[in-house]
Amino acid sequence: MVLSKIPAHVAIIMDGNGRWAKKRGKPRIYGHQQGMESVRAVVETARKVGIKVLTLYAFSKENWARPLEEVKFLMGLLEHYLQKEVEELHQKDIQIRAIGEIERLPERIQVILHQAIKKTAANKGMILNLALSYSGRAEIARAARLIAEACKRGQLSPDQITEQTFARYLYTADIPDPDLLIRTSGEKRLSNFLLFQCAYTELYITPILWPDFREKEFMAALEDFSRRERRFGKTSEQIKGKA
Ligand code: FPP
Repeated sequence: MVLSKIPAHVAIIMDGNGRWAKKRGKPRIYGHQQGMESVRAVVETARKVGIKVLTLYAFSKENWARPLEEVKFLMGLLEHYLQKEVEELHQKDIQIRAIGEIERLPERIQVILHQAIKKTAANKGMILNLALSYSGRAEIARAARLIAEACKRGQLSPDQITEQTFARYLYTADIPDPDLLIRTSGEKRLSNFLLFQCAYTELYITPILWPDFREKEFMAALEDFSRRERRFGKTSEQIKGKA
């Protein structure tokens, strides 16, 4: 399959693990386990096609309210993934990053995560950005707080606060906005994900549940994206004229 346009940044809301398991009469955690295989497949494909940044919504701030057993299981999966796969990700020149309230994660996961980030910091092949304990609104409030502090210290003045300045105080300061946001399981919501960054992001919603979303399904999303015309508020004629 030849893609005429490759998105630089793809963000994914990996939804439907619980429903996938329920359909098979299994506990929800079984769905998360199979969802891990989709994470592997998607990372591999993204690297192969030349995507520069892949952001995965692995755990939202709101997910802390799930049953303790499920939260523990998800943390265990994350720990396992970081311990087992970092070497391979490193070999593939993938840089690991994390966004969200990382300080809320269990201490031992924070340690492994920081080690993985440090080890892969100089890699240039692709950024794998994990959203962990992440909330878009909390990220925006945090940026406002940091900006207020900078103003108070006299390092910034209110008239310098533009959209561009604001974006520099987000977790994603040095990465481009997502070109494509994929959500599996058919729900038509942003669920507090990258609210500032997704202003002009193309949305792709598929009914496929996350554990079934593998290379073929990812390629279909990329193919769909490559057919889109992105206008950023302009007219189609303006865009074609420019092209
Ligand atoms: C949503 O499905 C999925 C999650 C809340 C967790 C996603 C985590 C993984 C796929 C594994 C860990 C990932 C990494 C990168 C280590 P759901 O439980 O909300 O499904 P439902 O809506 O059908 O209940």
